[in-house]
Amino acid sequence: MEIVILDSAAAVGAHAGSRIAALVERTPDAVLGLATGSSPLGVYADLATRAAAGVDFSRVRGFALDEYVGIPLEHPESYASVIHRDVIEPLGLDPARVRVPDGRAADLRRACDDYEAAIVAAGGVDLQILGIGVNGHIGFNEPTSSLASRTRIKTLAPETREANARFFADPDDVPTHCVTQGLGTIMDAREIVLVAQGAAKAAAIAAIVEGPVSSMWPGSILQHHPRVHVVLDEAAAGDLRLSDYYRYTFDFKPSWQRDPV
Ligand code: F6R
Repeated sequence: MEIVILDSAAAVGAHAGSRIAALVERTPDAVLGLATGSSPLGVYADLATRAAAGVDFSRVRGFALDEYVGIPLEHPESYASVIHRDVIEPLGLDPARVRVPDGRAADLRRACDDYEAAIVAAGGVDLQILGIGVNGHIGFNEPTSSLASRTRIKTLAPETREANARFFADPDDVPTHCVTQGLGTIMDAREIVLVAQGAAKAAAIAAIVEGPVSSMWPGSILQHHPRVHVVLDEAAAGDLRLSDYYRYTFDFKPSWQRDPV
């Protein structure tokens, strides 16, 4: 894992954004894996600035990580709405090229299988953007998720419903279930950029970067991925034992390795 520790949340967004924009300039129809939640908002804001400056995202294809089950599509907090508002519109993506798992399908299992097949048909994900939950989840792969899981229905953990209650008028309105890409699905991406900001994420970051690989900290599976960048602000890096070493490593990287390639 490459661990990049930066001095502000804005710098996290800009660093991840530069890597993603470089990919899109190289490969205009790149397939991006799209996370929702607060963590990637700075990344999308950075990409929107680059779009306004002329980077063309119109051919980019996208697959969202997850969706709540049972929430109306037009609900402002459905991930279909969030992806539209935070990603498709500001970046100028073509909505026909972006998919979000279907949390309202009559046959949810089949919809999950179709989603997996659509990712494969697109040639796989070139770059997956990830946030992380306080319990170490990526996507909505909650603790004890199979490390080999594929897109499926999951029950949201109580701490995830609590964390996401801020988006809903009433905590009881937070859905209990979701459809999420599995850990196996995420691991198939060719490159992964995980962003985290703030002290609330420090324990989860320390566990997935420096702890053992365990389904109790689902993001720890990323230790098995050959091309993961974990981009953190100082607060999210606060519990890392080897943070000085990561800074030293980054400072000593030749520019061809540090810059997006
Ligand atoms: C969102 C997702 C989740 C979030 C995580 C962190 O699509 O899959 O894993 O990335 O819950 O959420 P925030 O960024 O809101 O703290």
